[in-house]
This record gives sequence, structure tokens and C-alpha cells, in this order.
Amino acid sequence: MILVTGATGKVGRAAVHQLHEAGVDVRALVRRPESVTFPSGVEVVRGDLSDPGSLDTALDGVHAVFLVWPTLEADAAAPAVIRRLAEQARHLVYLSARGADERVGAVLGSHGYLERLIAEAGVNWTFVRAGGFAGNDLGWADSIRTEGVVREHYDAWARSVIHERDIAAVGVGALLEGHIGVVYEVTGPESLTAPQRARIIAEVLGVPVRFEKTSREQMLAEMSTWMPVADVNTALLGMDEMTARPEPVLPTVAEVTGAPAHTYRQWVTDHVADFR
Ligand SMILES: NC(=O)c1ccc[n+]([C@@H]2O[C@H](COP(=O)([O-])OP(=O)(O)OC[C@H]3O[C@@H](n4cnc5c(N)ncnc54)[C@H](OP(=O)(O)O)[C@@H]3O)[C@@H](O)[C@H]2O)c1
Repeated sequence: MILVTGATGKVGRAAVHQLHEAGVDVRALVRRPESVTFPSGVEVVRGDLSDPGSLDTALDGVHAVFLVWPTLEADAAAPAVIRRLAEQARHLVYLSARGADERVGAVLGSHGYLERLIAEAGVNWTFVRAGGFAGNDLGWADSIRTEGVVREHYDAWARSVIHERDIAAVGVGALLEGHIGVVYEVTGPESLTAPQRARIIAEVLGVPVRFEKTSREQMLAEMSTWMPVADVNTALLGMDEMTARPEPVLPTVAEVTGAPAHTYRQWVTDHVADFR
């Protein structure tokens, strides 16, 4: 039995489907079982990663875990949760982030912290360090739908954004085949700036989409709606630095799964309904 956390999210949901299709017993950890649907045969169990005591039923009989962590939000509970997972499971595949480093704080600091807790817990582990998710661009869906516009501050930041199915596939490969103690750095197959991605969205949807560069103050205000201001400042400094160094295109997805990583155009095609 493999437990998948974050099972209603982008990567977790894809992992549940892929494990199920591979014929593996899979259990989805969710906070609100009444509001989710999965293919029949997938077990759905209620649990909250910020409350270690809520995980006992979900962990019963589990031998491996695909761990999608609610970064920052549940960090206070992380030591107890990781201890509990390590007591029960033989293999933990953790969805981390490229650049994970406890010293840098904010999101990357949280991923570094989780990686350390896992490495120290005495459980077999695999880390899947993902670059930027193509799925982040779903944040543009409302303004594309209502105004035909994409607004971003970092217009020159070239990112090799990755399809959630590819991140899940690397994690699933590790769950099914081992890959113990391996750190996978995963990216999409092409490097694209935000204006280039907006153009691809326009082409796939067949509607005009223009790009508007926002100010740093607007970006700070927008991010502060979902992240503490100190973390936003850290994140913005990180993005300044990354703009100067485009994200690399790495071959990991093809190497692990045997299939090329999906292009951004394919990702948009898979999400047309989300943008219309
Ligand atoms: N976005 C990127 O570019 C990127 C890059 C590298 C790594 N990552 C990492 O990937 C992970 C997923 O990020 P995302 O933004 O893509 O996630 P997402 O799709 O929004 O999914 C988040 C999932 O976590 C669940 N969740 C939230 N709080 C929870 C809690 N307290 N207990 C149990 N489940 C909880 C949510 O369930 P509900 O349905 O209950 O809300 C949802 O299923 C994060 O750790 C993130 O840092 C992201």
C-alpha cells in the first residue's frame, strides 16, 4: 500500500492516478474526503499533515509514501510527522524543490528542512527536486479569461517549467523501482520566459493574450496575500538572482521514465478547460 499526500493537488493527484494505473494499492490522504473523487479502487482517508495524531488510520498497512508537503504551513508539525512516517513506511519519496537549502529560508528553506528531517529519520528516501511547475501558470487563468492578459513582473526569467504528470512519474518510478538515496532534479524540456508562455497559451486557446509587466511593488503586494512579507522578500531576491541565471533543461524525466518530458504546449493543451 502506497500513501500519497497532497492527493487533491497538482502532483499528488497525478501520482494517485499513475500508481492506480500501474495496479498498485494506493491510498489518498485528504483533508475533506466528502469533496473528492478518485477512480474506484483508490482508498481515500482523512488526515491533516499539520496534526500528526490524525495520521494513524491513513498509515495503517502503508509500506511507502509519496510525500507532498504543505510547505511552511505545516512545518511546526514536521518532526513528529516524519518520525511517524519513518516508523511505518520503508520508503519515503519526497517532493522537494530545486535549490532546497535550509539556510536560505522561505520555501526553499522549508524543503531543505524537510529533506534533513527525512535523511535523519532512518528511512529509505528519494528526493524529487522539481523546478517551477507549469501549473503555477494557472494563476493567470482568471485574467486571461476576463481580460485576455497575463501580468507578471519577471518578464525575462527563462524557466524550464515542468508538467505535473512528469514530476509524478519520476516519483512513481522511484516508488516502484527503488532509487533509494537518490536526489532527482527534474525540469521541463524547454526554457521559456513568461511572455513566451503567454504566447503559447494564446496559440493553443486561439484567443489573443497580451503580456503586461507589473512593478515590483505589485508583485510584492500580490505574493503577500499568501506568504509572510519576510518570506516574500526572500523569494523576490531569489527570483532576481534566478533571472540572471535561466533554469537549466535537465534530462531526468526521460532518463527515469523512458519518455520525453511533456512540452509546455502539451501542458496548456491538457489544461485548456482551466483557461476557458
Ligand atoms: N509550485 C512550484 O513551482 C513548486 C516547485 C517545486 C516544489 N514545489 C512544492 O510542491 C508541493 C506542492 O505544491 P503545489 O503548490 O503545487 O500544491 P497544490 O497543487 O496546491 O497541492 C497542495 C496539496 O496539499 C494539500 N494540503 C494542504 N495543506 C495540507 C495539510 N495541512 N494536510 C494535508 N494536506 C494538505 C492540499 O489539500 P487540500 O485539498 O486539502 O487543500 C493539496 O492536495 C509543495 O511542497 C511545493 O513547495 C512547488
